[in-house]
Amino acid sequence: MNITRRQFVFGAGASAAIMHLPVAKAALNNPQTIDLQAITGATQLLPEKYPKTPIWGYGGMAPGPTLRVRQGEKLVCNFINDLPQASTVHWHGIRIDNKMDGVPDLTQALVPSKGQFRYEFVAPDAGTFWYHPHNKTSEQMARGLYGALIVEEKSPPEVDQDEVLMIDDWRLGQSGQIDDSFGAMMDWSHGGRLGNWITVNGNARYQKPVKQNERLRLRLINTSNARIFSLLLNGLEGWVVALDGQPIETPFEESKPLDRLSLAPAQRIDLIVDVTAEEGTEGVLYMPGRNGDHTLAVFSVDGKARPAPLPTPKPLARNPIPEIDSAAQARKVFLHMEGGAMGQMRGAFLGGKRVGMRELVNAGKVWAFNGQVEMPEKPLISAARGETLHIEIKNDTSWPHAMHLHGFHFRKLAENGRFGPLRDTLLMDREETATIAFVADNPGKWLLHCHMLEHVSSGMMTWIEVA
Ligand code: C2O
Ligand code: CU
Repeated sequence: MNITRRQFVFGAGASAAIMHLPVAKAALNNPQTIDLQAITGATQLLPEKYPKTPIWGYGGMAPGPTLRVRQGEKLVCNFINDLPQASTVHWHGIRIDNKMDGVPDLTQALVPSKGQFRYEFVAPDAGTFWYHPHNKTSEQMARGLYGALIVEEKSPPEVDQDEVLMIDDWRLGQSGQIDDSFGAMMDWSHGGRLGNWITVNGNARYQKPVKQNERLRLRLINTSNARIFSLLLNGLEGWVVALDGQPIETPFEESKPLDRLSLAPAQRIDLIVDVTAEEGTEGVLYMPGRNGDHTLAVFSVDGKARPAPLPTPKPLARNPIPEIDSAAQARKVFLHMEGGAMGQMRGAFLGGKRVGMRELVNAGKVWAFNGQVEMPEKPLISAARGETLHIEIKNDTSWPHAMHLHGFHFRKLAENGRFGPLRDTLLMDREETATIAFVADNPGKWLLHCHMLEHVSSGMMTWIEVA
């Protein structure tokens, strides 16, 4: 094993606690009904000798309970807001009934502190999804409000273990408290709130016992406010089988090593990997770094499951998403992203009035779409149901952004006219231009925003309407 293990900021060795995510009890009836309470709590993010960190969490925990439903099954979720702030729940990546999308003022009213809201929806696609608040999101998620929503395939792939790995980036103070510098202009105008303590499922050193030649399904979810993770595996070999919940359609090449995995905020990667590390050693998921690697998860190998790894898995069955007909007439619309530090933006419309950069900074609004900060009154597009839409997005800023569209999965148009894999969140490099394409088959009002939460808080959002 040539991975050097380094602690992130706090020098002490993190305790090797094994964290089992609580799984909401799956009643074997349809619909499945659960209570989801958002409430303050405390969790041991730092090593034992440090105090617990006060958090806000679903069920008082961070992450919240992993919800599991079967594809096509209805989930009824009674959301109980026991936070000191108003909130909502957004079901990220679910092609949902618009009324259940959880966007305040656009799809529902805010759920006040001590209020409740009943979410009820069918998950049409199998895959790895998640849920999080959609009010003061940069603060509420940074405090620990998020959880996984797993929609099980009708015939899931054969694996020995199926693990959700929620990767978060906390900004903690010296006594382990969540740093409350929410709204710091430095974060908003630059790369967002980056933290100093990285956890997997709330653990700084996540550990999972495995056996050699076991097959694992690993569902990686980036729940951080703004950090883009670049990840590698050692002692675990296999395939990317889905992105943002949607299966990869290309057949898996035999024994192709997994490349570096790029995981932007809100993105998911499903892997199927075989444990190739020797007995008595460990497989690891790590962030390679110039000053040494940082280990996120350790899979300690004890025993052998079978003499050799299983044969190459079959791709996952595709979900019922309407295919983009490349011959069809597409509606084209342009989205110009501007602003932020080191940008060219001189001014923009704020609340119907064009104002200069200084006034924008004073209002805490430093990013614009098509010359407008915050939610525009009119949608970017009003589409007819079933129309094919192409949105050409130009990132005219000095920062990368993770563009997320609610209610749809889209494909990025490549230069050769081909389409990329289905995604709900697209990482865009500084100065990059990309066109996303999708069939607008889901009626309602849908948000399009940057998932770097300080960016959306300071202006980067618009919406589309499908009749
Ligand atoms: Cu996961 Cu509008 O967000
Ligand atoms: Cu952004």
